Amino acid sequence: NGGLAHGLPNGATVRKKLMGYVGFANLPNQVHRKSVRKGFQFTAMVVGESGLGKSTLINTLFNTTLYPEKEPLPPQAERPSTVSIESISADIEENGVRLRLTVVDTPGFGDFVNNDNSWKPIVENIEARFDAYLEQENRVNRQKLVDNRVHACLYFIQPTGHALKQIDIEFMRRLHTKVNLIPVIAKADTLTDDEIVAFKERVLSDIAHHNIRIFQAPIYDNEDEETIAENEEIASKIPFAVVGSNREVRTSDGRSVRGRAYPWGVIEVDNEDHCDFVKLRQMLVRTYMEELREHTNDVLYENYRSEKLLGMGVTQDTSVFKEINPAAKSAEERALHEAKLAKMEAEMKMVFQQKVQEKEAKLKQSEEELYARHREMKDALEKQRLELEDKKRRLESGRPLTPEKSVSTKKKGFLRA
Ligand code: GTP
Repeated sequence: NGGLAHGLPNGATVRKKLMGYVGFANLPNQVHRKSVRKGFQFTAMVVGESGLGKSTLINTLFNTTLYPEKEPLPPQAERPSTVSIESISADIEENGVRLRLTVVDTPGFGDFVNNDNSWKPIVENIEARFDAYLEQENRVNRQKLVDNRVHACLYFIQPTGHALKQIDIEFMRRLHTKVNLIPVIAKADTLTDDEIVAFKERVLSDIAHHNIRIFQAPIYDNEDEETIAENEEIASKIPFAVVGSNREVRTSDGRSVRGRAYPWGVIEVDNEDHCDFVKLRQMLVRTYMEELREHTNDVLYENYRSEKLLGMGVTQDTSVFKEINPAAKSAEERALHEAKLAKMEAEMKMVFQQKVQEKEAKLKQSEEELYARHREMKDALEKQRLELEDKKRRLESGRPLTPEKSVSTKKKGFLRA
């Protein structure tokens, strides 16, 4: 009752001032050092119709040629008939921090006459990655978990300027509980500023109408004003209207920039006045990569895992819930008691049955023994009866009692004579 002695309720936390240097202020540095040593794993998925600039944007985001530049397929070229899943990994390093980046591409999505089930192989792939992680967690040795779960999915919306298409809605509806969805308006340089504003509004209202949850940067209580403003700034740009390009072009004022050149001017990828590329990179890489990984692990994967385990008949540990809920606790105790009684009853039944079986086996054995003895006695009596009858017949006919013996003596005498 140390707490009570000091007038504090049990378990209370108090704020204390340190009287000198202790050293735990170095904890963030320790975490940082360890993370840097271990490196990071990040998996991004890109989904969208062919030719929307997915490979180009990935190359632009990570400033590398993860995807070689390719010529667009001619219309008559043979295209695959199903959505396939292709992943590509690269180890990249920036200021000593290593990142194993994996990009999962989904060629074929939305490219067919009938795209009804285009989302299916993608959901299956995301779930298979969850399963692979779950399998590692269930192993005895869980030292080095390889995290191949998809941490973010960039969904490329065709810059039609109208509304979302059925395939966009269907995909996002099917996927939003399994992956952090980040919608982007592809090739935004093909729309005017006004068209982009109107299109964004329409896309957002479609998303809200269909109750689709897209990734939102979390806002914490103790966040400073600057961070809150930054969060709001990023959130206000969703769905990000992006332009991708790995090419350097020269602006009218002579600067060399990543962008796309048009007769009327240059669209700069890294210029926030030109497109939302910078904000997308901020969300995906610079500020919220860790949040994306955390949300994947703590919410999306956790939901999948508990649903899967419940489906397999494994109940979750609800001890925290019971601790704060006495009704749940007593219900659980009652259930435990009943289970114990049922177990005892089953055990008693089993012992009883075993005893009965043993008795029956013994009875059967003695019955067989009795029967065998009875048959033996009967045989012996029959033999005796036959001998006596034979004796009687011989006495009545006046023949000697042992005829065989006398015949043989006679024979011997005859032979001798
Ligand atoms: P698939 O691999 O066929 O699915 O295509 P993709 O979505 O990866 O598109 P990719 O990056 O190969 O780009 C297709 C074409 O669009 C290329 O010629 C690119 O140069 C061009 N492109 C890429 N990004 C943009 C963009 O932001 N604006 C414009 N106007 N064109 C772009």
